[in-house]
Amino acid sequence: MSTNSKATVDLAELERSCPGLRYTDISQEDAAKVTKAEEDLLELEGRVCSHGDTVHYAERPTFFETCEGSFLYDGKQQPYLDLQMWYSAVNLGYANKRVNQALKDQIDKLPQLACQYLHKEKVQLADRLVKSVKRTLGEDGRVHFNVGGAQAVEDALKLVRKHTGKSRMLAFEGGYHGRTLAASSITSSYRYRENYGEFGDRAEFVPFPYCFRCPFGKKVESCGMYCLDQIERKFEHEYTSWWNPKSKKSEFGAFFIEVVQGTGGYIIPPKGYFARLAKILREHGILIVDDEIQMGFFRTGKLWAMEHTNTAADILVFGKALTNGLNPLSAIWAKEELISPDKFGPGSTHSTFSSNSLGTATALEVMKIFDEGDYEKTVTEKGAYFLNILKDLQSKHPEIGDVDGLGLALRMEMCEKDSYTPSRRLADTMFQRGLEGNLSYGGKKTGLILDIGGYYKNVVTLAPSLEITHKEMDMAHDLLDQLITSCKKEL
Ligand SMILES: Cc1ncc(COP(=O)(O)O)c(C=O)c1O
Repeated sequence: MSTNSKATVDLAELERSCPGLRYTDISQEDAAKVTKAEEDLLELEGRVCSHGDTVHYAERPTFFETCEGSFLYDGKQQPYLDLQMWYSAVNLGYANKRVNQALKDQIDKLPQLACQYLHKEKVQLADRLVKSVKRTLGEDGRVHFNVGGAQAVEDALKLVRKHTGKSRMLAFEGGYHGRTLAASSITSSYRYRENYGEFGDRAEFVPFPYCFRCPFGKKVESCGMYCLDQIERKFEHEYTSWWNPKSKKSEFGAFFIEVVQGTGGYIIPPKGYFARLAKILREHGILIVDDEIQMGFFRTGKLWAMEHTNTAADILVFGKALTNGLNPLSAIWAKEELISPDKFGPGSTHSTFSSNSLGTATALEVMKIFDEGDYEKTVTEKGAYFLNILKDLQSKHPEIGDVDGLGLALRMEMCEKDSYTPSRRLADTMFQRGLEGNLSYGGKKTGLILDIGGYYKNVVTLAPSLEITHKEMDMAHDLLDQLITSCKKEL
């Protein structure tokens, strides 16, 4: 682990050890032209684009022109080290050559096909996914494709409703499952429902084991998982709880979980939590739907984050990194007894683009790369290296209250000087200043792409490329140190 802010850096050597990194000097005149063109476009965007998406979270939205490996490049060809990789959609790095080639080949071969017909990549991809679940979680099942994450969540909801006849679900406080209407009803943030009328089937939200800020004020060393005791209490009897022991019926069809909370702030539960929760749910006939949309595909060092829990889900939901962020594709995997053709027959759910041939060909290549590689080992090793970097930063900056990580899903919780009171201001400032691109590495202007999550929006959620090199992690160390130091002075 080494930092380089003050030392001179051999740029040629740096570019060799950071695939995708290049520094290009452009003239002041060209830079001024880029700035003017972007200002004009930004003015136009302000008038013609809806601001209902997330672009205007930033003080000044940024245009990017190219990308490679762990880096995005703006119009002035300046690099930004990306430590969030599009909320973990680009696990194999930007412009991954093999994945891009698979997409190009499919464009030349079968660029489009109505989803009511078959194409071989769809079947081969489903086969790889089904086998991967059998290998890792030990269960037989089938795959059903869709386009985006929230749509796959909707498909999972339909499957649960069909199987159990129940429309009420359990989900976690801090959980995020998307922003369509049904996904919003199982996402804990009221802010996503506030302006959209009644959500009669809104989930019952249960505290997540967020041990750094335990909702019950307990200490993880001594609590005996008090939070699970509280869930167990809800199944005692039919008068004040969710379960009728006489009819043996529960009010809820399924519990939607994220093994590591993504938007909730990359919170990693204590060991043994999910195994005990699963036992409680199974005893009461409640299905487990595991949302792997952000944590799947080796983000946590395992293909499925669920593998860390020694338990299996009834339904998995995934998207994002399935195509490395290229042509959108998402899917659910479900146990045979839920999704067999007699239970979930033709037309049960459908979208025009649901198993689009560009998405399936791309995803097939992604799965081949995962099957051929040794990601369990490399991601675990790199994750430990990155976590040490975060611990080093924490030893220098009391404003970092907590750091943690599972594989390359890492968290850094920004606080006041007391190392506990959440500082949203500091996290926001880091997000903005990183995006402005005025940090320096080896004497060159460099930016840093971060994302902020957590219950208090004070957590830097880190999801670097799984292909990140050690040199790039050292670069991240240096840039984060600079950023925290300067942002603290600003506040
Ligand atoms: C855990 C989780 N579930 C669901 C979604 C929704 O996926 P999409 O944005 O593709 O609809 C996301 C997106 O961030 C997510 O992180």
